[in-house]
Amino acid sequence: MKIITIDGPASAGKTVIAKKISKYFNAPVLFSGQLYRSIALLMIKKKIKLQDKGNIIKCINEIKNLELSLHDLYTTEIDKLSSTISTKKYVRDSLLKLQRGFPLQFPKRTKFCIIEGRDIGTVVFPEADHKFFMWANADIRAKRRLVQYLENGKKARLNKIYEEILKRDRKDFNRKIAPLKPAVNSVLLDTSYLDIEQVFKAIHEVLINKINDKRDDKSKPIIRI
Ligand code: DC
Repeated sequence: MKIITIDGPASAGKTVIAKKISKYFNAPVLFSGQLYRSIALLMIKKKIKLQDKGNIIKCINEIKNLELSLHDLYTTEIDKLSSTISTKKYVRDSLLKLQRGFPLQFPKRTKFCIIEGRDIGTVVFPEADHKFFMWANADIRAKRRLVQYLENGKKARLNKIYEEILKRDRKDFNRKIAPLKPAVNSVLLDTSYLDIEQVFKAIHEVLINKINDKRDDKSKPIIRI
């Protein structure tokens, strides 16, 4: 089984792309942000404070067996709280095992397994076979998020979304443990001016080229002129 990692900041299009690759290759996919979001949701439901390490650890143990409605996970309150708890070392450490165990539940013949997040190519699966880092300018990401909100019938203001994205970027990029950064051997994709189909095509091409790469030394980039 080959591991595909997709990292990048909030609203860079990782989820849509991960779903598309998953569908195309019939590959299982883990959206690791949902783990952080699930902990945040439980904390809100149980009124657990940020300093209450003991009860937060209980929430982490609970999410393993929890069936959560995805709809509940994507609110601005959970955006904020999941981002805050993701800076805690014990939270990240406890989620490591869960994330690394994800591919093991599928048969060995499964061709690809996709894990999407912030530190997947750097910390969770540093030995992954295919690493992608998706980027887009913050103003463009904010516009995409606004469209998503409006399509879901939610009210939203572009300025507010833009500010929130900048705040989450700051937290993601600057946290001491597992900050958001591209793995040195990842493929960087600036999606600012690309649509989903173009991004998918680029990733598909990289995957197919690598699969068909018969060279002995695969550490060097494939250069085609
Ligand atoms: O990808 P997302 O927006 O669903 O992630 C929610 C939060 O979880 C995000 O603010 C950062 C955090 N996160 C993380 O720190 N590491 C990951 N691998 C995935 C998400």
